Amino acid sequence: MSPRSIIIDTDPGQDDAVAIMLALGFPEKLEVLGITAVAGNVGLDKTAANALKLIELVGRTDIPVFAGAAAPLMVHLETAEYVHGETGLNGWDFPAPVTKLRPEFGPDWIVDTIMSRPEKTVTLCPLGPLTNIALALAKEPRIASRIDKIVLMGGAQIEGGNVTPAAEFNIYVDPHAAARVFACGADIVVMSLDVTHQALIKKAWLAELKALGTKAAEAFTGLLSFYERYDEDKYGSDGGPLHDPTTVAWLLKPELFEGKFVNVEIETTPGLCFGQTVVDRWTVTNRRKNATWITKVDSDGFFALILEAFRKLS
Ligand code: RIB
Ligand code: CA
Repeated sequence: MSPRSIIIDTDPGQDDAVAIMLALGFPEKLEVLGITAVAGNVGLDKTAANALKLIELVGRTDIPVFAGAAAPLMVHLETAEYVHGETGLNGWDFPAPVTKLRPEFGPDWIVDTIMSRPEKTVTLCPLGPLTNIALALAKEPRIASRIDKIVLMGGAQIEGGNVTPAAEFNIYVDPHAAARVFACGADIVVMSLDVTHQALIKKAWLAELKALGTKAAEAFTGLLSFYERYDEDKYGSDGGPLHDPTTVAWLLKPELFEGKFVNVEIETTPGLCFGQTVVDRWTVTNRRKNATWITKVDSDGFFALILEAFRKLS
């Protein structure tokens, strides 16, 4: 069976970085057509450079990297250096990348790639604010029916928000973009905090990663040791949640997850609930069901999959 073709849209971000490595660890199952950077955890200049650093780390400079939106559609950019550090990838001292970004604007390349390939053969994997995806949809609405799936990390219902009591970071940064994506009609799978908060990094797992002894394993031990401190302090948990790799893990082993097909709307009215994902979990409205809201993950299986990927990366 030929590998699934995916586009990773990302704001690296240590957890984004693990998601990228997870995808690159299974080339027989996932073909990464390209990576598009978006402003989110840190500014676009850094998220784009971070994507280049990551493909250089594992010798995959064949993968094209594109810069996308530097700001949300309608609000000012809010970043998360308080979580990810000033570089966005604090915890490992990457050399400045020598690989160049491709010249095309990320959303334009997303449109061209989807429109030039057979229908239902390209999957989008957004790991940050949805600005690039919304811009691609605005430029060419027909991509919505051509995309196979959009498997995104964002939102929260049961868990509450991580940037306001109501809103999760990726949605909160650009709720207008999120609203466009959830209304587009594509087959959407949502990895919200409701499921990612079940995927907590354990110290024993981090020790297994370090014991692999490769450059990638050493780098990611540093990255994740830095990354998890914020959420451990915030939630009082033993280990921080590894959000973004749940999207790629679903593509690789959907049997690790459980979910429900529901309606999800985005609150774009300024105020207490700005950026909230409003999930009609029990069909109490007649709103069109538009997304599979993932509710459970086999955490042990998830982390075993990531370790399997790192065993194959140098
Ligand atoms: O709320 C978690 C999300 O925000 C993750 O994608 C993380 O990388 C940050 O972008
Ligand atoms: Ca992210």
